Amino acid sequence: MSHQTVIVVDFGGQYNQLIARKVREHNVYCKLVPYSQAAKEIEMTAPIGVIFTGGPNSVYAPNAPKVDDAVYDAGVPILGICYGAQLMAYALGGSVKSAPVREYGRRDIRYSDNSLFSGMDKESTCWMSHTDYVDILPEGFEIAASTDSCPAAAFADESRKLYAVQFHPEVAHCLQGSKIIENFLYKICNAAGDWTMGNFVRDQVCALKEKIGDKKVLCAFSGGVDSAVAATLVHRAAGDNLSCIFVDHGLLRYREADEVMRVFAGDMGMNVVKADASDDFISKLEGVRSPERKRKIIGAEFIKVFEREAKKIGKVDYLVQGTIYPDVIESGKDKSAVIKSHHNVGGLPDIVDFDEIIEPLRDLFKDEVRKVGYELGLPASVVERQPFPGPGLAIRIIGAVTRDKIDILQRVDCIFRKELEDCGAAKDIWQYFAVLTNTKSVGVMGDKRTYEYTVALRAVTAVDGMTCDWAHIPYDVLSKVSSRIVNEVPRVNRIVYDITSKPPATIEWE
Ligand code: XMP
Repeated sequence: MSHQTVIVVDFGGQYNQLIARKVREHNVYCKLVPYSQAAKEIEMTAPIGVIFTGGPNSVYAPNAPKVDDAVYDAGVPILGICYGAQLMAYALGGSVKSAPVREYGRRDIRYSDNSLFSGMDKESTCWMSHTDYVDILPEGFEIAASTDSCPAAAFADESRKLYAVQFHPEVAHCLQGSKIIENFLYKICNAAGDWTMGNFVRDQVCALKEKIGDKKVLCAFSGGVDSAVAATLVHRAAGDNLSCIFVDHGLLRYREADEVMRVFAGDMGMNVVKADASDDFISKLEGVRSPERKRKIIGAEFIKVFEREAKKIGKVDYLVQGTIYPDVIESGKDKSAVIKSHHNVGGLPDIVDFDEIIEPLRDLFKDEVRKVGYELGLPASVVERQPFPGPGLAIRIIGAVTRDKIDILQRVDCIFRKELEDCGAAKDIWQYFAVLTNTKSVGVMGDKRTYEYTVALRAVTAVDGMTCDWAHIPYDVLSKVSSRIVNEVPRVNRIVYDITSKPPATIEWE
């Protein structure tokens, strides 16, 4: 696979993945690399450009992260952002100072005639987030932009193609930030724009064909975006040599299992075996109220059912997994405290008889996975699917799970989702779903007393699900949803809307 590469050197800043995604949005492939490996990686990859990210340190701190001098001498254009700008100035002989207060937020900025700012309005707004600032520029550098409080808001040595910005062009609040990244890539690094999802699919299918030949491949299929796109991509290369096992635990959303089979076994012509194991799962969950026990039981049962089905297929050569780039980056970092033991298919490698794992999406961000999905002809219902927990509705039914409760929840959830989608609000919401609480309350219907379930509606906005806010859905939409639910779903007489952010709540109720 031949495409140009930009190396994004990670100094631990909060926007690092965002920088990498912005570069990719401009059709240039980039790789996020820890600062300690930058020099080695540049030597190996021969990138067309390098970007230094921000980071929480001061360049004068005892163990301040830095890069080998070889990085500056490689003759490759560099763009330093925030800490990356200060580091470049300091390493090349300039000096950095600490301001008495942190400068944070939108600032008016004046850009000069520099290739980094070519074709842009010279008076604009940028986004600052720093305490230290560059006080004396290294030799050969000139100021390229200023704000009232930060004279060296950008500086450059055009002859050596070294550029630095104190502000953050990658964040949406920086008005012409995207243009700055585009200028760096196309005017300074002479990018060809060869990273497109069409090219990716073509190259991957070619590489997979060569690797797989007529060997056997197996995929655990959950219906989620990543595993669905990974399997469809491998199917292009392996055809019927790919077998997918779809474990239907009976805890999916309304008619979702049928939809999965219709799209993948039907439209896409893939070899998908549906293991209908809902009886097994539901009987194992009988009377279980603890969320963590539900997760453990479902995780263990999933493995059991998968193993049973995999045995019928026998030995395979490859196992496909839908690992994506943020998983690869995160797996290198420290894990934090366990709030919920999120069940996924991580346990599979131990129980399947295979030689090697294939992860065709391990270089892609989520938005790229979605584009690949469209390239492969998958419908929006699959490609835009919101995150859905592995244990499914079991952790959205508070208390013990029964078939009746699943049925009530599926109907309520279906109405809520449909109304949000029809009014256009869904596209700005990260996750939206219903929860069946274990509270019953008194109501009155047709002059009669009722004593029925309370359901909660949950809709949150988020960037990555780590934190979130509750979505401000218009009242008239909530009103319509409420009236449809009580009219159409028996056994429900009260509806509440969850208005808690995360933290302190979590997205799911269990
Ligand atoms: P919480 O509830 O922890 O959810 O704020 C964060 C994200 O994780 C999803 N989630 C799960 N996903 N297995 C999964 O595969 C689980 O057990 C699980 N619990 C929560 C949740 O839907 C949200 O996207």
